[in-house]
Amino acid sequence: MPRLSVWLIRAALIHLGLGFAFGALMLFNKGIPLQPALWRLLPLHIESVLIGWTLQLAMGVAFWILPRFRGTERGNVTLAWLAFAVLNTGVLAVYAGNWIAGWRGLIAVGRTLELVAAGAFAAHAWPRVKAPGA
Ligand code: HEM
Repeated sequence: MPRLSVWLIRAALIHLGLGFAFGALMLFNKGIPLQPALWRLLPLHIESVLIGWTLQLAMGVAFWILPRFRGTERGNVTLAWLAFAVLNTGVLAVYAGNWIAGWRGLIAVGRTLELVAAGAFAAHAWPRVKAPGA
C-alpha cells in the first residue's frame, strides 16, 4: 500500500473513532441526561463520520487502487498529498468553529478547505480514470 494511502486510511480511522465517541456520548446523554452542552457535539459527529471517515477512506482506497500507467505511475502525487493535508485542516477548522464560541467564522474557512481538498484530489485522480489501452 502506498504511504499516502496509509496516512489517509489511518486518519480516517481516527475520525471514525472520534465520530463514534461523539455519537455515543450524545446517545448516552439522550437516555441519561448528563449535560445539555453534549448536544453541541452533533455537528462534530456529522463532520467526523461523513467527511473525516467516509470521504477520507474513499480517497485512501482510491489513491491505492486506481489504475497506474507506465511513466506516470500514480499521477500527480503532490496534489493528492495536498488534498490529505487540506482536508484534515478543514475538518479541524470546522470542529473548532462549531465548538468554540466566537470562532464560527472558521466553519466557512473549513468548508472552503474541504472543497479545495476535493478539487485537488479530483484533479489528481482524473487522468487515472480511463479504460485500459485508452
Ligand atoms: C458512519 C456512521 C454514522 C453516520 C454516517 C452518522 C451520521 C449521523 C447524522 C447525519 C446525524 C444527524 C441526523 C439528523 O440531524 O437528523 C447523526 C445523528 C446522531 N448520531 Fe450518528 N452517524 C453514524 C454513527 C453513529 C454512531 C455509531 C452513534 C452512536 C454510538 C451515533 C449517534 C448519533 C446520535 C445520538 C445522533 C443524534 C440523533 C438525534 O438527533 O436524536 N451515530 N448521525
